[in-house]
Amino acid sequence: MSLLTIEGMPASEIDRLLDLAEGFVEVLDRPVPKVPALQGRTIGMLFYEASTRTRMSFERAAKALSADTMVFSPSGSSVSKGESLKDTALTVGSMGPDLFVVRHSSTGAPWRVAEWTGLPVINAGDGAHQHPTQALLDCLTLRQHFGSIDGLRVAIVGDIRHSRVARSTAQALGTLGASVHFIAPRTLLPVDVDGWPVQTTSDFDGLIGDLDVVYMLRIQQERGGGDVFPSIGEYVKRFGLTRNRADRLPPHTMVLHPGPMNRGVEIDPAVADGPRSLVTKQVANGVAVRMAVLLDQLSGKAGT
Ligand code: CP
Repeated sequence: MSLLTIEGMPASEIDRLLDLAEGFVEVLDRPVPKVPALQGRTIGMLFYEASTRTRMSFERAAKALSADTMVFSPSGSSVSKGESLKDTALTVGSMGPDLFVVRHSSTGAPWRVAEWTGLPVINAGDGAHQHPTQALLDCLTLRQHFGSIDGLRVAIVGDIRHSRVARSTAQALGTLGASVHFIAPRTLLPVDVDGWPVQTTSDFDGLIGDLDVVYMLRIQQERGGGDVFPSIGEYVKRFGLTRNRADRLPPHTMVLHPGPMNRGVEIDPAVADGPRSLVTKQVANGVAVRMAVLLDQLSGKAGT
């Protein structure tokens, strides 16, 4: 059993994982935030792409469950001598991990690691494709704040075309009954967006007074996101969550961002650090969600 995608995961399954994660929020709040649930288990982490939040929260989650970790990053490894993903996965797999957590710039890489090694794999982000644990932590954060996701009006704003977060979180939110809007220049929308259960617009200001949640995304320069609009200044004017725009949101509207943020581009620093921001709560919930997912993968359907 692996967790490779949020697509097609039923609402009951998402809710079950979120309930399990809520239990770990409580564990992480204890004076000694550690349980012996995965003592003797080893988590192999293959991170072929940069990460701060996902990599560190998986490590934190594994340790809070008393598991051991083996963390691989290409820098300083035999990748520089030409070793392939397959040979790396088989090599690390031979050292006895019980599960792999995989991040890679290529869509589908976590599926291949699962096939090659026969081990369960958690997808920690593959290209612009999927980031299922990000979707779960976003849902947990919104469920905690609003009580329920059903009926929420959520706008995901920015470089949606290159965003595995937008894809995964929109799918999970849609499954749980939210109404999702993508706000972006046409050039930063996915080419197949017409088949998605979302509404699209390039008029941020037209929706600003009618949203419960604004989910800002950075421009993914590393995937070519910066090449498709005239200038950063022009982009900020139309799609940035500026202070002026944030002042026009309804009082109850909350702001999310998966990180890393480019302050002053997609989000004003005062908004990122202001009372509407749930950004640090998202990060904190990432640990609890990853504890839930690790336990679920390694002990069957925990909590049912
Ligand atoms: N949200 C997210 O995936 O952040 P990192 O790239 O830092 O892991």
